Amino acid sequence: MSTDQQGYALITGGSQGIGAAIALELARKGFGVIVTARSEAALQDVRTRAAALNGGRAHALVVDLLEADGPDRVLRSISELGVPLTCLVNNAGHAHWGLFGEEPMAEHRKLMRLNMDVPVQLTHALLPELKKAKRAYILNTSSMTAFHALASMALYAASKAFILRWSRSLRIELKGTSVSVTAVCPGAVITGFTARAGMQAMDDLAKKFGTPPEPVAKSAVAAMLKGAPEVVPGFLNKLTRVFQGLMPMSVNEGAASGIYLKRLPRRRASN
Ligand SMILES: NC(=O)c1ccc[n+]([C@@H]2O[C@H](COP(=O)([O-])OP(=O)(O)OC[C@H]3O[C@@H](n4cnc5c(N)ncnc54)[C@H](OP(=O)(O)O)[C@@H]3O)[C@@H](O)[C@H]2O)c1
Repeated sequence: MSTDQQGYALITGGSQGIGAAIALELARKGFGVIVTARSEAALQDVRTRAAALNGGRAHALVVDLLEADGPDRVLRSISELGVPLTCLVNNAGHAHWGLFGEEPMAEHRKLMRLNMDVPVQLTHALLPELKKAKRAYILNTSSMTAFHALASMALYAASKAFILRWSRSLRIELKGTSVSVTAVCPGAVITGFTARAGMQAMDDLAKKFGTPPEPVAKSAVAAMLKGAPEVVPGFLNKLTRVFQGLMPMSVNEGAASGIYLKRLPRRRASN
């Protein structure tokens, strides 16, 4: 397929980590890309690298999605660009590590807004445009934490379960249209994510068992192009899913929560 036939993809959280890797993988597959995030220099770097892969069809939008008008600014910019949108990647997200009752409500609100409200708002606004395309895709970044409860990451795990269930429901609603919906559920990925979430105490585990973002992006984009409902990237993660399916839920959530609680810094666990 020629690059012109693929239309454009909007990727939130496209400045680094999984989002940047997805943007570059989509550019490699011939999509025009529009990356959005807050860090201008990092975004411009991804834009330049994507443009080198897809014949210059790349744009960067510097927007803080947590600002009240952030999502509307993205939507306005897309409409001003006037490019055909055929793919939406809801990837921007963050975590906050700590016991639910002891962390400030303002942090909880930020997490719920970025991880749930923003994808819902962007998808609702862009769905009519996506439906106009002959073939269009929505790719939502969930997580393996969507599969079970996770003490000390309660709201994060819940937000990722929300994304997974919402994606799968939306996919059924959109059957018979040109739009498919795929959720990618990565395990540990080596990005700036743990540092931003204040999870340095988990870094050794993330580095030991985590994968770089590129294979995650490859797997996510391949699943998206096939119209698969859900993908867990990586052999070890797939194996973990099989074992999780064989175990009672209480064993899965107890084991995972135990690992996180044991490493939660004392000051936060005992405040
Ligand atoms: N890393 C993992 O182990 C892992 C595992 C499973 C799922 N995930 C999910 O994968 C997604 C990407 O995470 P990552 O690991 O790639 O983390 P990351 O390296 O921290 O990237 C997060 C992205 O979101 C953007 N972002 C954060 N806050 C934003 C805001 N207020 N407005 C606009 N953009 C914002 C960041 O850009 P700026 O800072 O430039 O704004 C960055 O591009 C997240 O949804 C995460 O929950 C990660």
